[in-house]
Amino acid sequence: MLKRRQDYQPPAFLVISVFITIDIKDDATDVTTKLAVRRNPDAAADTPLWLDGQNIELTRLAIDSVELPIGQDMPDGVDVSDHGLSVAGLADEAVVEVQSRCYPQDNTALEGLYLSGGMYCTQCEPEGFRRIGYFPDRPDVMSVFTVRIEASTAFPQILSNGNLIETGAVGADRHFAVWHDPHPKPSYLFAIVVGDLDCVTSPYVTASGRAVDLKIYVEKGNAELTAHAMDSLIRSMRWDEQEYGLEYDLDLFQIVAVSHFNMGAMENKGLNIFNSKFVLADTATATDDDLHRVESIVAHEYFHNWTGNRVTCRDWFQLTLKEGLTVFRDQCFSADMHDAGVQRANDVALLRAAQFPEDRGPTAHPIRPETYKEINNFYTATVYEKGAEVIRMLAGFLGKDGFRKGMDLYFARHDGHAVTCDDFLAAMADANNVNLDGFQGWYQQAGTPQLRVRRHAGDDVSQLLLSLSQQIPDTAAQTPRNALPISLRLAFLDQQGKIVPTRLATDAAAQDEHVILLTEEHLEQRIYAPQAANLTPSILRNFSAPVVVDDDLSPDERRHIMRYDTDLFNRWDSAQTLVSDEILAIAADPQAAVNSDRIAALADGVSHILDDPNCLDYFKAAIVTLPAISVLESRMKPADPVALFNARLAFEAALAQQLHGHYQAALDPKKSAQLADTAGGRALLNRLLALAVAAGDAQADERAMAHVLDSNMTVSQGALAAVNNRPTVVRESVLSAFHDRWQDNALVLEKWFSFESMSCISGRIERLQELMQHPAFDPKNPNKLRVVLGAFMSGNPVRFYAEDGSGFEFIAGCLIDIDKRNPQLAARMALPLTRIGAYSEQRQQQMRTVLKTVQAAAQSNDLSEVIDKALV
Ligand code: BES
Ligand code: ZN
Repeated sequence: MLKRRQDYQPPAFLVISVFITIDIKDDATDVTTKLAVRRNPDAAADTPLWLDGQNIELTRLAIDSVELPIGQDMPDGVDVSDHGLSVAGLADEAVVEVQSRCYPQDNTALEGLYLSGGMYCTQCEPEGFRRIGYFPDRPDVMSVFTVRIEASTAFPQILSNGNLIETGAVGADRHFAVWHDPHPKPSYLFAIVVGDLDCVTSPYVTASGRAVDLKIYVEKGNAELTAHAMDSLIRSMRWDEQEYGLEYDLDLFQIVAVSHFNMGAMENKGLNIFNSKFVLADTATATDDDLHRVESIVAHEYFHNWTGNRVTCRDWFQLTLKEGLTVFRDQCFSADMHDAGVQRANDVALLRAAQFPEDRGPTAHPIRPETYKEINNFYTATVYEKGAEVIRMLAGFLGKDGFRKGMDLYFARHDGHAVTCDDFLAAMADANNVNLDGFQGWYQQAGTPQLRVRRHAGDDVSQLLLSLSQQIPDTAAQTPRNALPISLRLAFLDQQGKIVPTRLATDAAAQDEHVILLTEEHLEQRIYAPQAANLTPSILRNFSAPVVVDDDLSPDERRHIMRYDTDLFNRWDSAQTLVSDEILAIAADPQAAVNSDRIAALADGVSHILDDPNCLDYFKAAIVTLPAISVLESRMKPADPVALFNARLAFEAALAQQLHGHYQAALDPKKSAQLADTAGGRALLNRLLALAVAAGDAQADERAMAHVLDSNMTVSQGALAAVNNRPTVVRESVLSAFHDRWQDNALVLEKWFSFESMSCISGRIERLQELMQHPAFDPKNPNKLRVVLGAFMSGNPVRFYAEDGSGFEFIAGCLIDIDKRNPQLAARMALPLTRIGAYSEQRQQQMRTVLKTVQAAAQSNDLSEVIDKALV
């Protein structure tokens, strides 16, 4: 059934408090939800009470302590279906007690209560609670939860949200625990974990002096791998106190790592549950990027305690209210912990590689969608990443203090409530006495706006005329296409590369940087400075809006910005554009010789940066990191991912030739040991090794063999990355050395799986089939499916987009199979196959044909929704 944002109705009943009992036995789990309900004065009178329930068996029903017959003799007014229970004729206040049975041991969907690696755990967001027990499973019903869980003593830990208030034995071999969470919450934040786990504890004292116990629970034997996550948690808690004045609000904060998890992590109140790959990490088993990811996910889930839990979403259309805002907060935290410019480059690279393609594809939607069939399909790059960009624009527009005032008012007004994106905008506007109505458009419209910037001569050399215009593309979402408020940060460089103060009007103050808010379709902006006509504009600094820029800068001007701009993001971005230009030229005409003059000029600029002692190694590494295929595709019509991939390899080899001196130096064992000492140095070392391999340097092979055995995972994985798509003689030895070293560590071996399936050399279909027979592969574990099939689709274009359509056919078969066990994952993994529009007629035909097969076999709403959209 299609749900519409406009159809929102408040719940007929509120649940003031709920007492849950969960009785876990080997063959089945019995659950009772005992609800104290009260009629909602805001809802239409006489509406029945609705309790969601799915894939559970109703076993008992009592109202105000009166037992009611179930089954054939069910009383009038009570109705059960396979998606819930409706009770008409209730008094304005009542106690409703419902018992049901579920089977966690058979739950492969990983929603609701399930078994993972021998422990029971739950995933309730967005609509998983209804698979555990009967309840109004919607975020605007917020209740105080108490839960009594009983299980075998083979599971010593019994965890849930809030505070532990009672424990005890039940007979010889069973025990129970009672947990109480004083903060009212929606059912999607409920969680339990029951298992035999190791626990690491750390004390924390909040700014106002509340003592909090921090606990991380992991599978036995993994306690050593939690130090980084714990440290990240403590830094996140401190940061939220300092930046937003937000403190933790319970005496206990728990994180549990589980091996089977559909997503990255989940912010259940006081009991976050994490995919183990985002908890377990040290420098021997995880790369620096992995460690950053752990840090940012720990922060993200912790930050939800306020942006998500204390103030939550009224309905799931408002998802970006908590997710966009919390991604913005975790991005700011990471920028504060590391280098802000490099962080920004990485965040924008992700936006362009993942969100822009979504916005031009069949599943395009605004950050606040208007309709959905399956809400699980809307945890998207648009809701998250574009949502965060919209918040960033607001924050930029209001300024740091103004944004903070808005946040303060948002919490003052809405703490303990379930609200909408409009409520958020209203708090921001009211706190600052400004009108933010224009920003509504960003919530309503899909599509990446295109910002066109053209320079024209002014009256004389002291003037420059900037002609700015925006164009909102047509998208599959068919949303309005009105002009949006676009923040344009702008500065000007002179021929020496210095920032020159400029004026926007003859009588205005001269400034190094301007922020122009383009609200109309078109704007003519005059720029005044002594030599205005001869300055180079630095446009959209720090990526001040989520748009595609179409400007008239020459390659010389881009090299100038790459070299001199004070905005690190724009330096990096200019390099990306120059690199993309070359790769696209090669892809368009692979026969023509690589243009060595232009590449030499580019390499000269890159050399300058590599030699500059004032540039961070992290930044240097980013400068020599090539744009993703999905980013390059946006500039080629029809897009040919295979040609782009090969062009990218050819370009990298040509660039490498020109940077001979740089990679040579890094191959020297002394220099490379020095680089390997810092995270930035390791990033640079890895890129230089890859360039050396690309250039065909014989010494590079030797270094790759040495690096793969390094005790630092970043260095070791760098060797895999360097050789994986190059036909060097050591490629297989490097990969098998890694495999043999880590074959007993399932988590680390995931890296090896992904390199194997991403390789244009070894990653053939037969190889994928072999990988799926490997003893460490588990078809029920989403991580394993992602590192084999997900990595193949996003990282191995040569095989996935193979001319004969074999890549599509193989993936289609896998999706049909996955859908039977885990619909949410199947729908998510199907997305690359649904992005048809950009490719050649022949590829589109092949993709449509296999999509029709998937459509016919799809059993779930999840998978059908995304496939149907691709086939319209
Ligand atoms: N609330 C989500 C987790 C979630 C998403 C659960 C969809 C169920 C369905 C969580 O806060 C989240 O956003 N996690 C992200 C990672 C985060 C750092 C962006 C994830 O799991 O990918
Ligand atoms: Zn989140």
